[in-house]
Amino acid sequence: MKHLLKLSDLSTEEIFGILNLADQLKYERKNNIRHHLLEGKKLGMIFQKSSTRTRVSFEVGMYELGGHALFLSGRDLQIGRGEPIKDTVRVLSRYLDGIMIRTFAQQDVEDLAAYGSIPIINGLTDYCHPCQVLADLMTIREYKGSLKGLKLCFVGDGNNMANSLIVGGLKTGMEVSVACPDDYRPDPDILARGFATGRLTVTSDLKAAAKDADVLYTDVWASMGQEGEKAEREKVFRSYCIDGDLLSVAKPDAMVLHCLPAHRGEEITDEVFEAHANDIFDEAENRLHAQKAVLVKLLK
Ligand code: CP
Ligand code: NVA
Repeated sequence: MKHLLKLSDLSTEEIFGILNLADQLKYERKNNIRHHLLEGKKLGMIFQKSSTRTRVSFEVGMYELGGHALFLSGRDLQIGRGEPIKDTVRVLSRYLDGIMIRTFAQQDVEDLAAYGSIPIINGLTDYCHPCQVLADLMTIREYKGSLKGLKLCFVGDGNNMANSLIVGGLKTGMEVSVACPDDYRPDPDILARGFATGRLTVTSDLKAAAKDADVLYTDVWASMGQEGEKAEREKVFRSYCIDGDLLSVAKPDAMVLHCLPAHRGEEITDEVFEAHANDIFDEAENRLHAQKAVLVKLLK
């Protein structure tokens, strides 16, 4: 594994390797066992969109591993003034040991990997969010003991989260159902490969998707970069909400997850969110452990 550009690049063994290391790092951190596995290593973090969890988990993660992280805002870099990303990465490769980037186009992340000579980590694009889903898989396994055979249901926009959850869920042996409006389905290639496994369903019927689910997952109706579509999306997605009624058709011990930030009263009710706050904030904490595992796998 040279980069983390998208989950479909990883084998099932590589995914479980990251999850196992993340569990170990979490256990060791809780027991105050510290390892400077990345002593002296430098990570550049390029952000062309906002972030709370991704930025802080990577920055704290690098610190705890004995390395250093540089926050590089897309607005302040020369990228913001038009310097090509393929030039930027050839320069940064000479200073840094790795780059994590949050941006719009997946192609930019692929270009960084193609032109640079250091590991590249995708910290979210319009297409996918692999780091989040590694933390999600870690959390589900922590609560449920294993992943194989569980039913993961995603409710909402067929966005970056839906794409990565389909790939990550199927690769780890889960059954995945997606409830989304017909015009907002996940990426067609991801769907085609998913359907071929026989373990993916996509429907606009929320209750059919959520029935007997072990995990219900949702995300915002309008993602970063879609602010101009907010009003239209509020109409289209009005019924795409995890509420008590939808939860009642899932398994009685179903988990509820959300990558955050959440919009209560839109994709999830305040009541369901607060009743499952432990699941959701354990998931957010696990970003730190999962990110540290990715960093160790790629930079050590
Ligand atoms: N879930 C997630 O990626 O959060 P941030 O946007 O705060 O990084
Ligand atoms: N789909 C959301 C995820 C945020 C973590 C977005 O892209 O804004």
